Amino acid sequence: MKKIAIIATLILSMAVVFIGCKDKREPGRIYMPDMTYSRAYESYAYRDSAIFTMDPNSAGHKIFFNNLPPAGTLKRGELYPFNVPNDSNGLLNLSSLVKNPLGPLTGKDLEETGRLFNINCAVCHGAKGEANGPVAEKVGGVKNIILASPGYSDGRIFFVMEYGQNNMGSYASQLSREQRWRIVQYIRTLEPKAATTTEAPKTDSAAVVKK
Ligand code: HEC
Repeated sequence: MKKIAIIATLILSMAVVFIGCKDKREPGRIYMPDMTYSRAYESYAYRDSAIFTMDPNSAGHKIFFNNLPPAGTLKRGELYPFNVPNDSNGLLNLSSLVKNPLGPLTGKDLEETGRLFNINCAVCHGAKGEANGPVAEKVGGVKNIILASPGYSDGRIFFVMEYGQNNMGSYASQLSREQRWRIVQYIRTLEPKAATTTEAPKTDSAAVVKK
C-alpha cells in the first residue's frame, strides 16, 4: 500500500513537471494567477485588458490605469506647472505674473542650454535668434526673437514655448519645464543689451542739433 502511494506520488509529480515545462517562455499551467500575473502595473509589461482598463467611469471590477500621473501630483524635483490659460489674456497679462524660477545661467548650464536652443529653436530662429535659421523661409512668419524679447517678461517667452504661437508649435513635450525656463535665460544672453545703450545717444535729437 505504501509502495503504491509512493509510485502514485512520483507519477503525479512527474506529470506536474512535464505539464509545467512545455515551453520555457510559457508559464505553463497557472494554478494561482495572482502569483503569475502581477496586479500592480509594470512598465512595458503586457497589459491584459481583462484586468486593466483605461476608462475610469466603467472600471467595474477591473483596475483603472491610464499611464498618467494622478491629478494634482508633481514629479519629485519637477518645477511647478505653468497654469496660465492658453488665451490672449494669458499671453498678454497673466504670463508676466509667473516668475522664472531659475537665475541667470553660467558655465556648463549656459553651454548646455545653448545646445538645446540650437537643436530646438535655431532651425527657425537662427543661432542668434534673428529669424534666419535654415528652415525659417519654408515655415514662414518666423519672428526675430531678440527684437521683441527685451520687452517681454520671462513668463511670456515661456508661454510661447508652452503653447506655441501660429506657425510655431508647442515645445512642452520636447523640453522639460526646467529646460524651457533655462532657454528663456539663454535668450536673455542673446539680447543686444550693450548695443542699445551705447547706440541710443546717436538718435538723440540733441546730438543732431550740436552738429
Ligand atoms: C518651426 C519653426 C520654429 C521653431 C523650431 C521655433 N519657433 Fe519660435 N516662432 C516661430 C514662428 C513662425 C513664430 C511667429 C509666431 C507668430 O506668428 O506670432 C515664432 C515666435 C516665437 C516667439 C515670439 C516672438 C514674438 O515677437 O512674439 C518666441 C519668444 C519664440 N518663437 C521662441 C522660440 C523658442 C525659444 C524656440 C525653441 C524652443 C522656438 N521659438 C522654436 C517658429 C519657430
